[in-house]
Amino acid sequence: MKKPKVSIIGAGRVGENVAYLLTILGIADIYLFARYKEGLEPAKAKALDLKQMAVLMDLDINVKGVSYDREGFDELKDSDVVVITAGIPRREGMSREDLLLENLKILKRFTDAIKKYTQNAIVIVVSNPVDTLTYATIRLTGFEPRRVIGMAGVLDSARFKSFVKEKLNVSNADIRTLVMGTHGDLMVPVMSHSFIGDKPIEEVFKAKEIDELIEKTRKGGAQIVSLMGSSAYYAPAASVVIMVEAILNDRKRVLPCSVYLEGEAAKHYEAEGICIGVPVVLGRNGVEDYELVNLSGYEKREFLRSAEYLRELVRLADKLLSEI
Ligand code: 2OP
Repeated sequence: MKKPKVSIIGAGRVGENVAYLLTILGIADIYLFARYKEGLEPAKAKALDLKQMAVLMDLDINVKGVSYDREGFDELKDSDVVVITAGIPRREGMSREDLLLENLKILKRFTDAIKKYTQNAIVIVVSNPVDTLTYATIRLTGFEPRRVIGMAGVLDSARFKSFVKEKLNVSNADIRTLVMGTHGDLMVPVMSHSFIGDKPIEEVFKAKEIDELIEKTRKGGAQIVSLMGSSAYYAPAASVVIMVEAILNDRKRVLPCSVYLEGEAAKHYEAEGICIGVPVVLGRNGVEDYELVNLSGYEKREFLRSAEYLRELVRLADKLLSEI
């Protein structure tokens, strides 16, 4: 039976690790797209390497590398899922407007191709600032919002869970954590919906420990950047693959993702017209439903701060999109 097709735009550390994990899982044919760089074709090289690994591990999988600035994006055709990982990371002295403008220009090239070559693809956005680039992808593709999903909360919730696990000798299976809001310093680790076994996390840790967990989770990405000078890739890639697997296998999993709020969800969360991290049901159609979580007073205030910050970035994105 023909396997679904997953196209990954960007073969940097995140993109290549998404391709690697999908190859191991064997759930899709993989098309890896990257720029042709100074005579080198990294997408082709990594695809060849993955195919040679696949035969070693007896994995019947197709992996193809495409240098899109030489071959174009025709091979995006009929993708079931497109993962956008390419973009520039923030450099010293870069304002968020500079980063957003640079990455919007890069994004537009991809969204033009996605619009042209795919009809029903579901798009997962990884490039940062992810909430706003997810919003921009919806605007630029014209796709229904349920088909454009930002990878953020799965990663941040995993970091929160990892920090909890460092403090307790408990199996992963018995720790449930939730992070909502923006993928950045204003993210909201939601203690009222995080559990160790059957106990709410606030019954397990003291207030000071809870504050430390919130701070560590918020700084999880920055901590890795400070240690190695570039951002993480194993956990981001694994987060993408968990979302891809939930979509391709129509798992109806409840996962926190950056999604466009409208209708009842916008009313519930008091945040309309932005992409922000909330738990959603992920299945073959993308966002199948929103989980309307009731936040505590503190959490709701933090979530609304997050939403206000993102509204400002959306206003900026709308201005910049009119200029590119
Ligand atoms: C992170 O938080 C790169 O956004 C990703 O590590």
